[in-house]
Amino acid sequence: MPVPGPGYSITIRVAAPPSASVAGDLTSAVGHVGGVITAFDVVDSHADSVVIDITCNALSADHARDITEALRALPGVDVRKVSDRTFLVHLGGKIEISAKVALRNRDDLSRAYTPGVARICQAIADNPDDARRLTIKRNTVAVVTDGSAVLGMGNIGPAAALPVMEGKAALFKKFAGVDAWPVCLDTQDTEEIIRAVELIAPVYGGINLEDIAAPRCFEIERRLRQKLDIPVFHDDQHGTAIVVVGALRNALRVVGKDMADAKIVVCGVGAAGSAIIRLLLQRGPADIVAVDVDGIVHRDRGDTDANLRWVALNTNRENKSGRLHDALVGADVFIGVSAPNLFGAEQVATMAPDAVVFALANPDPEIDPLEAQKHAAVVATGRSDYPNQINNVLAFPGVFRGLLDAQAHTITDAMLLAAADAIADVVDGERLNASFIVPSVFDAAVAPAVAEAVRKAAGGH
Ligand SMILES: NC(=O)c1ccc[n+]([C@@H]2O[C@H](COP(=O)([O-])OP(=O)(O)OC[C@H]3O[C@@H](n4cnc5c(N)ncnc54)[C@H](O)[C@@H]3O)[C@@H](O)[C@H]2O)c1
Repeated sequence: MPVPGPGYSITIRVAAPPSASVAGDLTSAVGHVGGVITAFDVVDSHADSVVIDITCNALSADHARDITEALRALPGVDVRKVSDRTFLVHLGGKIEISAKVALRNRDDLSRAYTPGVARICQAIADNPDDARRLTIKRNTVAVVTDGSAVLGMGNIGPAAALPVMEGKAALFKKFAGVDAWPVCLDTQDTEEIIRAVELIAPVYGGINLEDIAAPRCFEIERRLRQKLDIPVFHDDQHGTAIVVVGALRNALRVVGKDMADAKIVVCGVGAAGSAIIRLLLQRGPADIVAVDVDGIVHRDRGDTDANLRWVALNTNRENKSGRLHDALVGADVFIGVSAPNLFGAEQVATMAPDAVVFALANPDPEIDPLEAQKHAAVVATGRSDYPNQINNVLAFPGVFRGLLDAQAHTITDAMLLAAADAIADVVDGERLNASFIVPSVFDAAVAPAVAEAVRKAAGGH
């Protein structure tokens, strides 16, 4: 059952009679309609009233309105203002640029700007590699989207995607000290996106593609990798694949199985699923069977899409056909990056003993985690309200920290696998169990460990 969380947190300012029972009356009214109070502040007092800010978590915008109405219905209570704390956080955006140099006087100005800066420009003109030493290119990543596949909302366009990209930039800074900047492009044309990124590339040490729909995202990434001399990384693909591969290594340790013996079902062959399959294949599992909205992907299905054809040729050794339920029979591992509520406990019961279930469709997984737990030994989701959250934040900040520090020109599968192992290794043998196969996103050890692994894999020191 969903519980009120901080995503719908409101502060309601009320004026109420200054009676001895006022605090109890107000908190009971909120509690009665299911609001969860997180703060109660008396902000002003008069002879005939007190002014109180009640901050509480709600389930939804409608629920927030119910809570407000419950307070308004109390005798003598005047609701003065309702602030949505999530909107407050976004007022004016979530990131800003700040100067690293002092500009106090003409002397400072002459070095940071003209005339001194001209010598720096000339040095870069003479030796373009110096841009990585003498400009923000050293530490800056573009977070590029066309707004076509934003979270669970789909194609909401570039302006509406900006709050997500700002959030991503804030995470880059917080977890790895990387300066990331949102680049929301007002086009969904593959050629225009490629050209636009190519044209802005001189400023950046790396390109993080974000929330660009499949299959367009595959071609955009492939072509940009060919054209640019900086790493290009589509986080929805590779960030997910890194965390899944790391988490699966630990899950298999928990159940005492080897990757070489593991039969894996990957449901969803879009951005996330394709990248997971490609990276997992490098780890040599016994077999992978891919499933999409049309059922099991096999060689005789007649897919024309290049990505699906590649998957059909490189998975499903027995060339099975059928539906998801057929694929699950006897499987050791299920990895879902597809759609909500596709199967139940009965199907998990048909999997091999000590099954591992990663149900990652967001916000509602392929199977209710509580149902999955009835027969699976390890269950992971993409959600923060269950154990084992598969969250890309574990990967992308450290990956780009490592790439920037190594001054890498490309990104390779070896680097992705090194990052996956680094995440898995943060969970040492002492802490590893069925409810703890990945570290917390707030574990400060993760990003430096990932960065070091990527830097070494990139040939840096
Ligand atoms: N860290 C995480 O937890 C994480 C990371 C990435 C993606 N996801 C989730 O995974 C899902 C897919 O993301 P994506 O970016 O790859 O999307 P996508 O649109 O690129 O791909 C979706 C895939 O799911 C398949 N699919 C849809 N309905 C299906 C059904 N009923 N049965 C079987 N397959 C079905 C489609 O055929 C397609 O292959 C989303 O819910 C997303 O939120 C979670």
